[in-house]
Amino acid sequence: MGKTAPAPTDLPLADLYAPIASDLQRAVAIMDREMQSDLPFVDGLAERVRAYRGKMLRPALLLLTADAVGKVTTTHHTLAAVVEMVHVATLVHDDVLDEADVRRQHKTINTMNGNEIAVMLGDYLISHAFHLCSSLDSQYASRLIGSTTNTVCEGEMMQLHHRGCYDLCEADYFEIIRRKTAVLTAAACTLGAKFADADGKLVVALGGFGTHAGIAFQIMDDILDLVGSEQKVGKTLGRDLDLGKLTLPLIHFLSNVDSSRRAKLLDTLRHDQTTSTGDAPADSRRSVADFLRDTGSLDYARGVARRHVDQALAVLTRLPASPARASLQAMTEFIIDRER
Ligand code: IPE
Ligand code: IPE
Ligand code: MG
Ligand code: MG
Repeated sequence: MGKTAPAPTDLPLADLYAPIASDLQRAVAIMDREMQSDLPFVDGLAERVRAYRGKMLRPALLLLTADAVGKVTTTHHTLAAVVEMVHVATLVHDDVLDEADVRRQHKTINTMNGNEIAVMLGDYLISHAFHLCSSLDSQYASRLIGSTTNTVCEGEMMQLHHRGCYDLCEADYFEIIRRKTAVLTAAACTLGAKFADADGKLVVALGGFGTHAGIAFQIMDDILDLVGSEQKVGKTLGRDLDLGKLTLPLIHFLSNVDSSRRAKLLDTLRHDQTTSTGDAPADSRRSVADFLRDTGSLDYARGVARRHVDQALAVLTRLPASPARASLQAMTEFIIDRER
């Protein structure tokens, strides 16, 4: 089977995951079993996904939400595996779209095996996620996962559609990130609560928690794309700039500065796109970041993320105090403080 995958207890957020550590371990085992293939070549590809774990935020959100409102069941273990598989599928495909070289500190599938294999491996993961989800008696989860992946695809397509559009407004940016990222974190929390028999209103409220957390998470991810350290984040950065994908700090800058500064930044961006060889030139990423720092645009975006974090935290006050709730609170704070 090749490399040994890191155990959930070795994850960077292991302390926060303590209340659900054994549940996460079960979810990982389900996911790894589901991805196996009798074809050695396919199994070798699945092995790459098994070997390089990410932060496991979505399955952890699902399991902690379940634990915070009631009891974690075997259905939750399956669903935690499903949401992580959907997430990994979107990453494998997203790295094709973004022509990214590094993911989770290792070479991307598209870099190692080419775009065709990456497209098919992403399909394989999504297909197995649905296969696994359909093993549950209830259709609720399959319907929710289906509508979630529909929306994620729409979000990624909306972002592609707006590539190079330097007039992108905040409303459209928020629509993109709600669809491509926040619907999945919302679904994780909804499923955790629903299958722990939370009442309808609480299920909806916790879905809202997941939405706010997801929006804040993507805003911070977009900030890291501009100013983060590739070594710490463990993935290719600067691709948003390089590919003309506008994010909140840049949108704020372009709509708040005088025309000469706006023209100067647009020149830098357009110049990069014509001269780029595939990697975001570090110098221009740094100079764009300086522009955005000077005008307070980075702080503005951090402030918006902070407000979504606060709205997410407000939902959690509806839950009784417990180790799981404390972990959800700490995970929400992590979103804003994270460097990876
Ligand atoms: C990356 O998500 C994709 C985004 C939605 C920004 P994560 O940062 O949760 O990725 P992993 O799973 O930890 O690698
Ligand atoms: C993609 O957003 C989010 C997904 C739905 C996969 P990004 O393109 O910012 O994600 P990263 O930065 O590559 O992880
Ligand atoms: Mg990307
Ligand atoms: Mg990103």
